[in-house]
Amino acid sequence: MKPSDFPKDLQPYLVPTPRGGLVYECLGCSRTYGIERLLYTCPECGQVLLIQDRKFEDLQRIDGLLWRKIFDYRKMLTLPAMRGIYRYHEFIGPVMPLESILYLGEGHTPMIEANAFMQERAGMRFFFKNDGQNPSASFKDRGMASALSYIHFLIQAGTVSDVLAVCASTGDTSAAAALYASYLQPKIKSAVLLPHKKVTPQQLNQPLASGARVFEIPGVFDDCMKVVEALSEAYPVALLNSKNAWRILGQESFSFEIAQDFEYDLKNKAVFVPIGNAGNITAIMSGFLKFHRAGVIDCLPKIIGVQSHHADPVFRYYQEPDPERRIFKPITVKPSVAQAAMIGNPVSMPRVIHLANRYNETAAKPSVFVVQVTEQDIMDWELLANRNGHISCTHGGESLAGLVSARQQGIVAEDETAVIDSTAHALKFAGFTDLYFQNAIPAEFGITARPELVNAPVLVSPADLEAVPAAGQPLSGKAFDRFVRRVTEEIATTLNLKEERS
Ligand SMILES: Cc1ncc(COP(=O)(O)O)c(C=O)c1O
Ligand SMILES: [Zn+2]
Repeated sequence: MKPSDFPKDLQPYLVPTPRGGLVYECLGCSRTYGIERLLYTCPECGQVLLIQDRKFEDLQRIDGLLWRKIFDYRKMLTLPAMRGIYRYHEFIGPVMPLESILYLGEGHTPMIEANAFMQERAGMRFFFKNDGQNPSASFKDRGMASALSYIHFLIQAGTVSDVLAVCASTGDTSAAAALYASYLQPKIKSAVLLPHKKVTPQQLNQPLASGARVFEIPGVFDDCMKVVEALSEAYPVALLNSKNAWRILGQESFSFEIAQDFEYDLKNKAVFVPIGNAGNITAIMSGFLKFHRAGVIDCLPKIIGVQSHHADPVFRYYQEPDPERRIFKPITVKPSVAQAAMIGNPVSMPRVIHLANRYNETAAKPSVFVVQVTEQDIMDWELLANRNGHISCTHGGESLAGLVSARQQGIVAEDETAVIDSTAHALKFAGFTDLYFQNAIPAEFGITARPELVNAPVLVSPADLEAVPAAGQPLSGKAFDRFVRRVTEEIATTLNLKEERS
């Protein structure tokens, strides 16, 4: 639909006009800095930053009900720049001219309600939000669309040129970074650092295929992150980790979409999200807080972060009930099938602490929780979900295991509705399900395959056949007929099928 076809009272709001007001704000010393340059930590105190909108009051001048209409009508716009996360332009990147926006198909991922069997097993109504249906098959594309659109804007404005974008990654960040950077090549080139043998073959293939320079480093993600930080401090590179506050802005779209999908009614809703570097839970809290502040929603949903017992520093921090006595301690991680969340020292921890306080204060009751799950539960719930129509990866399994645990602990109740952040596509982590099917997951994970969840292909090649077809060597005539008949018989016998005579 063209803007001129929309109701007259909405027309002035449909296509946003860029406006200033954004600043970097330090979470340590509260200093603010202009966004004309790329900044990742506070030059004064070294703490992480968030981007604040100094003109947020402008958004509050528009009635919450009108915002809802604006977002709903924008669904019908065909303008590419407005089709992804920038449907919420004023809340995500109000400075961004539409011609700088990079849209590769990210955002607006489906919310799929779990079937009756799964809801009964989990003990409540719930949906999967399939963020694996983003272009590089994980939620990271939301943040990359924002970060790379901003770099694109700086290039167009002549502020920067010949950008080398770098990131450390547990796999999905590098896949997304390399994809979005490759669209803007040769103006942007990318280099990614991965922990050697700690990403899946699919995740390693993705940045290679996008043409990024790929470096494998001994150790785990936390070690890669240190190297990337050292690189970005000493050399002129653009950092694409979630330390980059533009990433957080883009990932807030996840919350905006949930609000819109529930027609802005978030009463009795709960969102489950796996925590690794803690960028995603930061963005989810921040997104809901913004919509609440502008009156787009009038209730904050519960947010439940989930961590594996093999990588649980955030869970441990919140185990201390007295906020005054909480001390954050990085931990040494153990192998986890939720490999992309296998992080012992989350970069966004100060953001989590800051925003969880604000979130609980605004909700006027405890609304942010962190639960811990076992490696066994992660795999079992992933497989059960996939056997019931979902495309959940191990991290979606982790979120779902977290829901079951939260339900048992009474953190969420039967009459609430949950959304599981299924952060990546099942195919990215298919290696773990393959190992499970062979009951061959290495001992250090502590996972034993449950026979009812195991599946394996059956080779049907009847021993009494003299010839079977092969590639380039088809069978014909009687030999082919016999092959079809015998294979059909064997499959029918295995499946216990009774022959129907016509
Ligand atoms: C599939 C997947 N799930 C969850 C996470 C954890 O997200 P975050 O690091 O923002 O906490 C990641 C991060 O790499 C991921 O790739
Ligand atoms: Zn500071």
